[in-house]
Amino acid sequence: DTAGLILGIESSCDETAVALVRHDRTILAERIASQDETHAPWGGVVPELAARAHTERLTPMVEAVLADAGIALGHVDAIAATAGPGLIGGVMVGLVTGKALAYAAGKPLLAINHLEGHALSPRLADATLDFPYLLLLVSGGHCQLLGVDGVGRYRRLATTIDDAAGEAFDKVAKILRLGFPGGPALERAAATGDPAAVPLPRPMVGSDEPHFSFAGLKTAALRAHQSGRHGVADIAAATQAAITDALEDRTRLALAAMPEATALVVAGGVAANAAIRARLAALAAAHRLPFVAPPLKLCTDNAAMIAWAGCERFALGLTDPLETPARPRWPL
Ligand code: KG4
Ligand code: ZN
Repeated sequence: DTAGLILGIESSCDETAVALVRHDRTILAERIASQDETHAPWGGVVPELAARAHTERLTPMVEAVLADAGIALGHVDAIAATAGPGLIGGVMVGLVTGKALAYAAGKPLLAINHLEGHALSPRLADATLDFPYLLLLVSGGHCQLLGVDGVGRYRRLATTIDDAAGEAFDKVAKILRLGFPGGPALERAAATGDPAAVPLPRPMVGSDEPHFSFAGLKTAALRAHQSGRHGVADIAAATQAAITDALEDRTRLALAAMPEATALVVAGGVAANAAIRARLAALAAAHRLPFVAPPLKLCTDNAAMIAWAGCERFALGLTDPLETPARPRWPL
């Protein structure tokens, strides 16, 4: 199958990424430049610094990816770029670069919703994954349960009423001074802690309302830390356990609402967490469903998932005009 060789660009947050993906699921080349060192001194992503770093890095990275694959721009079938949601400066840099390449090469543009990239990335990793599936999308900016019925056909079954799960990891990690980015740091700290040593709330657990809430958990973790009665590792372990319980409980509720689901799928940066993966795998097994979690490098922000969403849309003829605007907010 040679139909659909897509160049993908991702720049909606703090990763600059470019990938070349073919419709048969081959990743021909990919490059990713993390900006962790740029933002670490500030304890979070600074939008202006992110946009500047994307501007400096993107064009050389496009050239490098094409060179790595030994493919001329003229042989690419379409250019896929994240058009939102995300930090608007970064999204604009990536989208304008994608438009310029599409215009120069005379190829179609695919303006990709970053969330759709996460939602379809499991199908890049697993050729057997078919629609419909239940997707838990958990990242720094998003915490949703989606019924994925087909390309472009997404039903939101739950969302967060305050923070995203990744945001909760990041905020508690900041409180505990574990460094940035917080999720992986908190997971490391949690490994030596006792989750039962610190009582933390389980927001929304047991509720019939299909939503997430993590703000109260962050506040409780802050109080536990300020009390001086608990060690950092125990607070980290208790936080991870509370988030894991909440994700499992909300996912169980969504599975009951989507009996037609053929698989339970997790995507987004928080899906890199081993404890969360293990709990969701057990939940899927209890429902006799396959559990699909893409490899870690496809879970966190990357360009292969944008190129792949481009492949899926290109195959359906869903290309976009060059006037397509960048959108800071863009629900699926
Ligand atoms: O998908 P992603 O790379 O970017 C967004 O679109 O937000 O997700 C980043 C989020 C951050 O909040 C980060 O702390 C979290 O994913 N994360 C983790 C882990 N690795 C990344 N959270 C918990 N455990 C991890 N191992
Ligand atoms: Zn993301």
